[in-house]
Amino acid sequence: MNFEEISVTPSSPHVGAEIDNIDLTRPLSDRQLKELRAAFLKYGVIFFREQDIGFEHQMALAERFGHVHIHVGGEGTASKPAPGYPAIRLQHFDKDSKRISGEVWHSDQSCAEIPPAGSILQQKIIPPDGGGDTLFASCYAAYDALSPQMQAFLEPLSAEHDGAKLFDRGTKTVYPKAVHPVITRHPETGRKVLFVNAGFTTRIVDLPKDESEAILNYLYAHIAKPHWQMRFRWRPNSIAFWDNRCTQHFAIWDYWPNVRSGYRVQFEGAVRPDR
Ligand SMILES: [Fe+2]
Repeated sequence: MNFEEISVTPSSPHVGAEIDNIDLTRPLSDRQLKELRAAFLKYGVIFFREQDIGFEHQMALAERFGHVHIHVGGEGTASKPAPGYPAIRLQHFDKDSKRISGEVWHSDQSCAEIPPAGSILQQKIIPPDGGGDTLFASCYAAYDALSPQMQAFLEPLSAEHDGAKLFDRGTKTVYPKAVHPVITRHPETGRKVLFVNAGFTTRIVDLPKDESEAILNYLYAHIAKPHWQMRFRWRPNSIAFWDNRCTQHFAIWDYWPNVRSGYRVQFEGAVRPDR
């Protein structure tokens, strides 16, 4: 697609693009929405700068892409719901934080039967000395780089994703669990995706425990290679808007005791992850 309304600057060869020439406090035209959707699908994560949007605008933006998704992590998570906006999670970390959200390679909520299709995260306060960057990886490129033999080996396998792995902090909450194919096909682009992540995936259900562990550890290390990732440096009122079906991300907590504060909304996928 030709981008006529928005400007699009790729961030790296495999993942990410910065979008300019748009004001997200104003309703999107059909053409703008079409172009944003095309950029989102092509680059996996799109970034905006200097967009001072509040909860209402963030919800409205998400709803142009899908139904908003309510977080399934329970109370073990480091984020909290925004008062009056159950679909918005506050991600506020400061000197009193014991941990932050997402300091491991993961896709959001892959423990859900239908994980969110997309997440929109805005930062309002950024540490004064830098830090708090987010890494993004393309799971298309990670899949493409595997040998045909490894791709064929992984193709029929499925893996369990368990919310307790990331969220459980000794609470009595029962966390969601789901089994998804190790290799999925993106429902909109048709491209194949390496769909296991260190945050939620617990085991490959078709293999004995030791083989499952060895293969998963190899795949986690593979996804974490720098070749298909990029690093996003936030500024106040930056937004990252990622396709949760084909990317993973990692939030770096290198800014303690400084404050990083923002909020996220997610929208639902239409179908279960499938081959
Ligand atoms: Fe996340």
